[in-house]
Amino acid sequence: MKKKVTGNLSWVGYLDWELQKFHGDEFSVDSGSSQNSYLLEEEKTVLFDTVWTPHRDWFLQNLKKEIDLNKIDYIVMNHGEQDHSGTLPSLMEEIPDTPIYCTAQCVKSLEGQYGKKGWNFHVVKTGDTLDIGNGKKLTFIEMKMLHWPDSMATYISGDNVLISMDAFGQHYACEELFNDRADQDKLYFEALKYFANILGPFTRFVTPKIEEIKGMGLPIDYICPAHGVIWRDNTAQILDLYEKWADPDYKEDLVTICYDTMWDGTKKIAHAIAKEIYRQSPTTKVHLYNVAKKDKNDIMTDVWKSKAIAVGSPTCVNTVLTSVDAFLSFLKTLHLPHKKAAAFGCYGWSGESVGIIQKTLKDAGLDVINEEVKSYWNPDEDDFAKIPALVKDLLSDDKEDDMEVTQTPEGRKFVCKICGWVYEEAKGCPEQGIAPGTKWEDLPDTFHCQLCHAPKDQFEEVK
Ligand code: FEO
Repeated sequence: MKKKVTGNLSWVGYLDWELQKFHGDEFSVDSGSSQNSYLLEEEKTVLFDTVWTPHRDWFLQNLKKEIDLNKIDYIVMNHGEQDHSGTLPSLMEEIPDTPIYCTAQCVKSLEGQYGKKGWNFHVVKTGDTLDIGNGKKLTFIEMKMLHWPDSMATYISGDNVLISMDAFGQHYACEELFNDRADQDKLYFEALKYFANILGPFTRFVTPKIEEIKGMGLPIDYICPAHGVIWRDNTAQILDLYEKWADPDYKEDLVTICYDTMWDGTKKIAHAIAKEIYRQSPTTKVHLYNVAKKDKNDIMTDVWKSKAIAVGSPTCVNTVLTSVDAFLSFLKTLHLPHKKAAAFGCYGWSGESVGIIQKTLKDAGLDVINEEVKSYWNPDEDDFAKIPALVKDLLSDDKEDDMEVTQTPEGRKFVCKICGWVYEEAKGCPEQGIAPGTKWEDLPDTFHCQLCHAPKDQFEEVK
């Protein structure tokens, strides 16, 4: 059953109440989700996106109850990922000549996933328009890297609707469809969880894109994302939240402690740090998680908000526990707002874990303080005595106190034309084993964009 959004625009998506994992098993889903597809019936009829492959039969059957598929004049594919394109092959078997409007990158994505089917693609870029009759038109806005290179939004003039694709979405099944009808606490949590975990690697693109959209001077009464509720009550709130969450200085008065333990020594340090935070600053919230037991996406939602984090692991066969290793590996993929960080842990033989955590957190761009708690076998009085200084520095706003000030040499920068990621000679690319100071011409042939994997010839120098 379609649901009216506004005017002649309806929601025709799939409410995925049972979904528990997304992106394979990478993202935990606690509140269900939806794959939002929209149907616009003006002089021209437009279908925006489809739904995930497992729901294609349900989707097509329901769509056929609403409209003769042959009356669809245009299909707009704002994004090629399978949760939105999964039904497209079946749909195109029924209406094979229907024009598909999407970005050039989306054509690559769709053909890469489903093969070259000879579909009638119409490639669009930012500012291109499509007349749909009744005095209305669509305006296309590329949303590169929010969150894929092919992502796009579409604006419907007259209705003042922005169909925003994944941006501004949430994994939240809400039968009532609109933000003002949703559970507000759940909506806020799911919107931030989605932002931190899915858009987190790409937040540098968020604020410029929102400024660009605002600069287009388009009145926006509805923001219709690809997942979760439609924003119609105070649509500016989600734009403002995105700008706040993407701000490199975003932080709340929260410290998150993340650890795993073998024989409870590292756990004792974690608990002692939590207690000391409360002693020094009773108004500061403290969240403490064993990363082997708590969902990583929920932890990372708190990490995103935190003004500081402390990460602990015992040393086990010369490194950190695998749970902490996986957690840090995920953390490194994100473009976290500025925050302080500390490391702690126990050891019995060699004791590498604290150093490994500190290095990884530094590589992730966090301000790692010098204080640490590195306990031989089990924390004793001397170890616990180090915690007040560690907490004092974690809670301090002074960014310079204990940071290692590194002077990076000047160097050239090269930007990926596909996604905007920048290679800086001064920093190199440790993820690909490229040392700081490596000149562009000395990069190996295997070098690729760290974000979208585009090859070297897709880069140009930043002047
Ligand atoms: Fe909801 Fe990027 O797919």
